[in-house]
Amino acid sequence: MEHSQPCKSKPASAKKLRIAIDGPAGAGKSTVARKVAGILGYTYLDTGAMYRALAVLALDRNMPLDDPQTLGEMASSVHIDMCEDNGLFRVWVDGQEVTHRLRTLETDRAVKLISMAQPVRRILVDIQREIANRGGVVMEGRDITSVVMPDAEVKVFLTADVAERARRRWDELRKKGVTISFDEVLSEMEARDAKDLERDWGKLVKVDGAVMIDSSQMNVDEVCRAIIGLCEAKPTCSTS
Ligand code: DC
Repeated sequence: MEHSQPCKSKPASAKKLRIAIDGPAGAGKSTVARKVAGILGYTYLDTGAMYRALAVLALDRNMPLDDPQTLGEMASSVHIDMCEDNGLFRVWVDGQEVTHRLRTLETDRAVKLISMAQPVRRILVDIQREIANRGGVVMEGRDITSVVMPDAEVKVFLTADVAERARRRWDELRKKGVTISFDEVLSEMEARDAKDLERDWGKLVKVDGAVMIDSSQMNVDEVCRAIIGLCEAKPTCSTS
């Protein structure tokens, strides 16, 4: 995969923080990370969207989802562009926009397998590290605090009860007009949690030094305030 970067580049500043947020699906990472990045004027990177973009491509090309080598070759031969655009994280693969296909049930199922392919992870982690090195970034995913930027100034493990996370996902799907039962969404969520934990490489863990935030009973603004509070507690770093 060729070099990839968000559309709008932010002014470089040596003192800008790197904020790494990990957590299970549905904990609110994307909403919170995007908002914190907006408040601080930082770059926002949704690493799950990168895995999802490759899942869309693999489905389009009828690739074997259980063949890590072939998936890695596919990942190394495409160019991904990403851009935060007024609350929407847009993604293009080889110039073709896939944004509206990133969160379908079909993509949900395929991405579980894609994200287990070590050659794919290696390629995406390299790109993510390159973006992280510029500083002034809020990056969220599963292995950001553990693999991509373990030396980030602010590390957060954002979680919530599985039933609450499933309820949020169910609301999201129903708003899109998808007919699905809550129990089905809950069991998909539990299966996704299991997949995030069972990978040998890049599995979801709470690392030492990451601050745990449980968003089950918190709204988005409360979680953002908690994260910005962690940034402000870093005396040597500027948040503006
Ligand atoms: O956060 P999300 O649901 O959009 O992530 C999509 C999938 O990609 C999910 O199966 C977890 C995986 N993922 C990962 O393995 N590592 C990351 N850094 C981000 C996402």
